[in-house]
Amino acid sequence: MCGIIGYLGSSDSKKVLLEGLTHLEYRGYDSAGIAIREKDRVDVFRVEGRIKSLEEKLASKQFSGTVGIGHTRWATHGAPSELNAHPHRVGAITLVHNGIIENYSEHKDTLVGMGRKISSETDSEIAAHLFDLEAQAGRKLEEAIPRVMSQLRGSYAFVIMSDFEPDILAGVRNGAPLLIGVGEKEHFLASDIQAVLHRTNQIIFLQDGQFALCKRDKVTIKTAEGDRVQPDISSIDWTSEQMDKLGYPHYMLKEIFEQSQAAANTIDGNIDHRDGIVSIRELGSLLTLLPKLKRLCIVACGTARHAGIVGKYYVERLAQMPVEVDFGSEFRYRDPILDQETLLILISQSGETADTLAALREGKRKGVPTLSICNVRGSTLSRESDVVLHTNAGPEIGVASTKAFTTQLVVLYMLAIQLGKLRGTLKKDKAVEFTRELLHLPLLIERVLGTEPEIEAIARKYYSRPFFFYMGRGIYYPIALEGALKLKEISYIHAEGYPSGELKHGPIALVDTDTVTVSIAPRASNGVVDTLFEKQISNLLEVKARKGSIVSIGTEGDLRLREYSDQLISIPRTSWGLSPILATMPVQLLAYHIAVLRQTDVDKPRNLAKSVTVE
Ligand code: G6P
Repeated sequence: MCGIIGYLGSSDSKKVLLEGLTHLEYRGYDSAGIAIREKDRVDVFRVEGRIKSLEEKLASKQFSGTVGIGHTRWATHGAPSELNAHPHRVGAITLVHNGIIENYSEHKDTLVGMGRKISSETDSEIAAHLFDLEAQAGRKLEEAIPRVMSQLRGSYAFVIMSDFEPDILAGVRNGAPLLIGVGEKEHFLASDIQAVLHRTNQIIFLQDGQFALCKRDKVTIKTAEGDRVQPDISSIDWTSEQMDKLGYPHYMLKEIFEQSQAAANTIDGNIDHRDGIVSIRELGSLLTLLPKLKRLCIVACGTARHAGIVGKYYVERLAQMPVEVDFGSEFRYRDPILDQETLLILISQSGETADTLAALREGKRKGVPTLSICNVRGSTLSRESDVVLHTNAGPEIGVASTKAFTTQLVVLYMLAIQLGKLRGTLKKDKAVEFTRELLHLPLLIERVLGTEPEIEAIARKYYSRPFFFYMGRGIYYPIALEGALKLKEISYIHAEGYPSGELKHGPIALVDTDTVTVSIAPRASNGVVDTLFEKQISNLLEVKARKGSIVSIGTEGDLRLREYSDQLISIPRTSWGLSPILATMPVQLLAYHIAVLRQTDVDKPRNLAKSVTVE
């Protein structure tokens, strides 16, 4: 993980770098630093802690330099400390790094044998030494970079300054994201768009195995093999206002409240108005393949994997096709069985999660078609997949994923409807009915968000409890997983998500008067869930008998559920497919308000990072 930035232009580099780092802080926030070239010297400032501490350290300092680099860290090698913070300065080289260099200890031994002094515990400093060896041997960055790349194993993105080439800022990418922002006689290098968007929307996405040499008025891109690459500039349509909190106390709350619009934007353009049925415009070349498929394999991490499980229920029900869902971190290590009749689907908000990317590459290696569901245009996942379906959630900054999740569900539901129609397992009138209901989703979401004050009151009642169970049956089981994940991520309360029927096979031993059980049990305008509803009531009674408190998420006016619950959060009655989407907002808001009451750092919870670009 970690966020890196570099600047070369004519503006005040301290300002540009700190601004950029603030936008990157969600990628890691245990230490930070910047380095600025001042005529013939480079000043490095590093702190343990957040960008705010770095800003305080730099408050009284003025710089005339217009070239610099910066870093915000999520520790992998070496504890979070000032010594291990970036930038690393070694001889003539100053660099920042994101990623993991797997063979750093071999290089470390050699460097120590050569008499070089290693000051930190990081793998990044070792890379700085390797670049410095090249610089001291008189090699320019253009020649040195491919030579060092050939010695490194692992994933990395570097931004490098060399004292011998003061008017060049170099960027290297292999397995960790890096892009170039192109301005007026200025260039930016950054881990993601957020860091530069308030300065330019003209972006070049570097590819793995490429490096860039930026001058003020020119950029040269080459591959590690020495081939020149023509820069391909994309215009990005996210605005910097979308990146601001717009008066909300936290990004997470803003993003929860953006879900109605995000769902609308994700549905928009994907309905064929001639027959009133979903028709996803980005499916492109996959359209002809879809009817021939025998199986889907969905791979993702964290919240995105929970979306994948909901997708399994959608597709198995509507398209009657088997679906397997796996963790990004497990998939490739079990030598998965993949064939031409399997479609590999990768789900990721950022499109940069290392384990999800590794799953994609495993699929490509085995020659299966790949489709990604991704929020960030131009991300590695979206560029390397055969087909990309974009969630149009807009930038998601809060570390705990919210609107990305619900828009992933929207895309999966649309995909299931289209697949069902193509395969003849979903009758035309049903496909029309489901599509019509889908168009009402944004309004229904707004109604659920209107229950926020009640959810806040429930949070006040239970925020000091030490343990929460989330339980649901069928399609609500993954929402129980997501609810528990949200709560533990931002409030640090221990929470577990279970299929309700599983509780009695062990976990119920934990239920006592201190436990809160969040039961997800809306009824839908469809028989299947209602039969499960009765079973859910039995599970509630089992909890009640052990004197646990029960918060239910159910359908408006459900008197039976109210009778067995201590608290009831109501959502409108809707179809089976949309119900899990509506049940998500209450679990997000409950986690949010509990975290606020417990005074945690909601947008930047401890030990986490938004985009996990290391294995
Ligand atoms: C991290 C984040 C999670 C996220 C997961 C997958 O662990 O903290 O919120 O769900 O990565 O991220 P992705 O960008 O692939 O959806």
